[in-house]
Amino acid sequence: MGFYSNVLFPALLDKVMSTGQMHKARHALLSNAQGTVFEIGFGTGLNLQHYPETVSEITTADINPGMNKRALQRIAESPIKVDHNVINGESLPFEDESFDTVVCTWTLCSIKNVDAALQQVRRILKPKGKFLFVEHGLADDPKVQKWQHRLNPLQQRIGDGCNLNRNMKELIQDNHFSFDTMDTFYMPKSPRFAGFMYQGIASKA
Ligand SMILES: C[S@@+](CC[C@H](N)C(=O)[O-])C[C@H]1O[C@@H](n2cnc3c(N)ncnc32)[C@H](O)[C@@H]1O
Repeated sequence: MGFYSNVLFPALLDKVMSTGQMHKARHALLSNAQGTVFEIGFGTGLNLQHYPETVSEITTADINPGMNKRALQRIAESPIKVDHNVINGESLPFEDESFDTVVCTWTLCSIKNVDAALQQVRRILKPKGKFLFVEHGLADDPKVQKWQHRLNPLQQRIGDGCNLNRNMKELIQDNHFSFDTMDTFYMPKSPRFAGFMYQGIASKA
């Protein structure tokens, strides 16, 4: 990993992902978490402060060791026990059906083999477990989509592999989940090409 991915990007990410509206979305989503939680793409640990008391333990995965400085600081401040792992979410070392909740916030955009990661999420989720997600992705407006396709190569460079144009609803459904809830909306104050959100709760289909 180069200097940008390892040092600059984690600092940038921590700032950009800390807006009031993002914290509001994190809080609403994570109020549904319970029991043993697995969080894929833990980043700098911005979700940690939003987990409710119903969560007993959190296991994390993030591929970028550059996230560690901030992540470990937040873990040290958290009252919840966290098992933090610098590993690739496309291939996880955890037992089948071992987590009550899997959490994914603004990460499916960045994972290279996103189908492999979703298959892992499904594998490690208990039969009645819940997959909680909030992701940006392909917009519903063809004009916005055109810009998302155009800007995607640039975004991949700036966003360390982030894609603007993934259809998150289709990706999740195609990997054998059904939706308990699924909302799409434009995040206020965000540019529309980066601000089309998919937020919901999915179960194993
Ligand atoms: C846009 S950040 C979001 C971070 C965090 N979820 C949040 O909400 O602030 C995407 C994260 O996914 C991580 N990531 C990308 N590919 C990954 C992979 N294959 N396995 C695990 N983590 C990955 C990146 O290192 C980064 O921390």
